[in-house]
Amino acid sequence: MSSQPKAPQQALPTPIGVGILGAGPVTQAIHLPSLARLGEILTVRHIMDVDPAVAESVAARVGAAHSTSIDALLGDPAVEIVAICSPHQFHAEQVIAACRAGKKAVLCEKPFAMNAEEAAQISAVSQETGVPIIVGAMHTFDPGWLAAQENWDDLPETAHTIRSSIVLPPNARFEDFATEVITRPASGTPDYTDPEVIKGALRGGVMGLAIHDLPLIRRFTPDFKDIEVLEARHVRPFGYVISLRTPTRTIELRAAMNNTWKPEWSFEAFSDDAALRIDFTPSYVQAGSAVAAFTRGSQTTVHGPFDHNGYEGEWRELAALAAGTKQPPSAQTLIDDLTFALDIADATVANVESRHAVAEGAHA
Ligand SMILES: NC(=O)c1ccc[n+]([C@@H]2O[C@H](COP(=O)([O-])OP(=O)(O)OC[C@H]3O[C@@H](n4cnc5c(N)ncnc54)[C@H](O)[C@@H]3O)[C@@H](O)[C@H]2O)c1
Repeated sequence: MSSQPKAPQQALPTPIGVGILGAGPVTQAIHLPSLARLGEILTVRHIMDVDPAVAESVAARVGAAHSTSIDALLGDPAVEIVAICSPHQFHAEQVIAACRAGKKAVLCEKPFAMNAEEAAQISAVSQETGVPIIVGAMHTFDPGWLAAQENWDDLPETAHTIRSSIVLPPNARFEDFATEVITRPASGTPDYTDPEVIKGALRGGVMGLAIHDLPLIRRFTPDFKDIEVLEARHVRPFGYVISLRTPTRTIELRAAMNNTWKPEWSFEAFSDDAALRIDFTPSYVQAGSAVAAFTRGSQTTVHGPFDHNGYEGEWRELAALAAGTKQPPSAQTLIDDLTFALDIADATVANVESRHAVAEGAHA
């Protein structure tokens, strides 16, 4: 009996190893569910958190190693990509350490730095080490946004009005839907009569929430370095209404986090004869991509929904960067996105301060 020679077995490509610094809600409720769907290309190898119980329990969910020290994670040869999901004040030093450890790519949750100097330092280290960095501004990786980009003609140059509007339940509600998040800190009711509380809430709103759409807005604002805040108000319990202008653009940022039953997250840009509206799925919800509608005259073209959202998009991008099949975003883009957000946060706080000073003067 003759037997056919066996065809040589084709080895499956090994998924790229991921290490995660910080295993709080964003890791548990957003990144691990996204990575679970990408098991053929990415696999979680190591989870680090300064809280040992969190590190151990979250790592056990995905069969990864765990530790409480950044050196242990960066020294683990199974870790090829590092995701930085710790609180924002640690981002810059951890991004730099991950680049210096010679990893293949780094994802840093937003914001990747807290000031322009840190951002410049990060970009210099990334250039020196050749390690690509992306920031977790997930909407910029959403297939709905990317499809709109292919089809919006000259709208970024001709738009005069841009709006970002967010109506969401508090994060905790989504986090609890998504997973059983452990170690949630208790929070009290802020004193809304204290101007420092209002300034802190508005700065947090810009750097924590609006920042998701500021790279999109910047794309439509060529004169983004010349920004002026016309009005900035805090919305209770958490939200903001901020009106801005540049010499050529009017920009509105609105957010309300309350007990709404219907989340909405939209980005809009208008010129004299065209309009773009993108409806994003809310953060935490793994419900496919944004849907973009581009209208010129009476003709509207709709793009999406596509099967994955921006979170999965950013992980796919990282895998491609680590494999060397894609070019990273320019360091200048990351720096410009961050300084745009910082400029708006500073101008927003200054607007509150000047209104407060006027009110104090009236009472004097
Ligand atoms: N892209 C998004 O949609 C989105 C949503 C929520 C939060 N975020 C961002 O993700 C980051 C984390 O958010 P979160 O809600 O999980 O925050 P969190 O602060 O609740 O949790 C962070 C975790 O990091 C751990 N930690 C603290 N110090 C650390 C350190 N030095 N090194 C490593 N771990 C440390 C904490 O023990 C905690 O478990 C923040 O930068 C936030 O802005 C992004």
